[in-house]
Amino acid sequence: MQTIPPKEQIDFETNKRLLNRYRFIEYETLRILAGWLPATARMEWKLAMGRLLWEDAQHVQQLYQRLREIQTPAFRPPGDAALEQLMAEAIHAPNECDLIAGLFRVIKPALIEAYRWHNEQTFANPDAPTRYAFKHILIDEEEQVRWAAEILADHPVGPWEQYIAALLSAAGGVTGRNERTPSPQPFSPATPFTPARQAMRDPRFSLVNRKAGQVIKEPDIATRRQLEFENYSQEMLAAETVAQVIYLSPQMPWEFTYDSARHCYDETRHCQLGIEWMKHHGLDFTTVPQNTRIFAWRSQYDPATQYTMLTMGNEVHAFPYRHESIAAYKQYNDQLSIQYINYDMADERQHVAYGKKWIPELLEKNGIDTPAEQFISEAVALWEAEYRSGTLPIHDEQRL
Ligand SMILES: [Fe+2]
Ligand SMILES: [Fe+2]
Repeated sequence: MQTIPPKEQIDFETNKRLLNRYRFIEYETLRILAGWLPATARMEWKLAMGRLLWEDAQHVQQLYQRLREIQTPAFRPPGDAALEQLMAEAIHAPNECDLIAGLFRVIKPALIEAYRWHNEQTFANPDAPTRYAFKHILIDEEEQVRWAAEILADHPVGPWEQYIAALLSAAGGVTGRNERTPSPQPFSPATPFTPARQAMRDPRFSLVNRKAGQVIKEPDIATRRQLEFENYSQEMLAAETVAQVIYLSPQMPWEFTYDSARHCYDETRHCQLGIEWMKHHGLDFTTVPQNTRIFAWRSQYDPATQYTMLTMGNEVHAFPYRHESIAAYKQYNDQLSIQYINYDMADERQHVAYGKKWIPELLEKNGIDTPAEQFISEAVALWEAEYRSGTLPIHDEQRL
């Protein structure tokens, strides 16, 4: 009998172990980006983070779909304390520049290298579904790394980035196959991450609580339209709440995080849509004061209440107003505004569906035993009283 030794370095067991490591890194990166989205000040970076975390959710999903074909349960920790330490530490960056540098100049380039190597070293035909996933994941990852290289071109490698590189090296790299170096000393001074209670904005913006949550009753169509798109340019506030809910809900099933990553990305796209509309009309989006009080108000509540007020309050109630807008803009054949609102409404219908799908489980996972219907009507009543009224009370100012 002839036996042929395989030339491939990655056998079936190694493949599983490695896919678990990649899935873990992608998932933790998503969570870190979600945690930092409200705490990041630069608007352009916040807009990018919505996309980045959604792309990473796609990568987790592809790896998960492959993993569930070869192991049960499909989601499991990588079983490597050093790798877990790397991803646990990466969130505690001293500032947003270092955060992006650690994730996208250290961890992601190493992940790309691992995907490329794995692609070459796995069994080409028997493991073709894995290679198909890598091929597509790599398109995003390479672009993410290019994005970070560009925005951080003037940011020299600092102690934080060196610390992250040392942690990665202590884990034997992304694959765990490199020679492991000793764990570095804890980073000093320590800057432990805590979920944001304030939505950060860069210095171009002024902050104000202006007409928060109130329906625009402007009879002049041109003014109404401008106010509507100025409001879109503030939808980062919705993205920030969804990001916060993702970060505060690690106990929820993967499918919730997957849906919510899309929800968060959509809200950054709605914000971008407002910005683009304003640019088309010669208006500067940075002149629109940002109602960051909305985030401070919403984030004082538990994640189930935040999510319910957003999906069953804001999102359910937006449709009559949008239909009115479309009817009004049709009179002027304002196709740009109509198209933008149509796409927005398509997303918002999904967001309402996410709300209906996930609220019962969010309640359960948050230890709330109020029946879902009752919880929703109470949350909407709270939203009416505190948001629609424009008062946005902060009940415990000291926690801010
Ligand atoms: Fe939206
Ligand atoms: Fe939405």
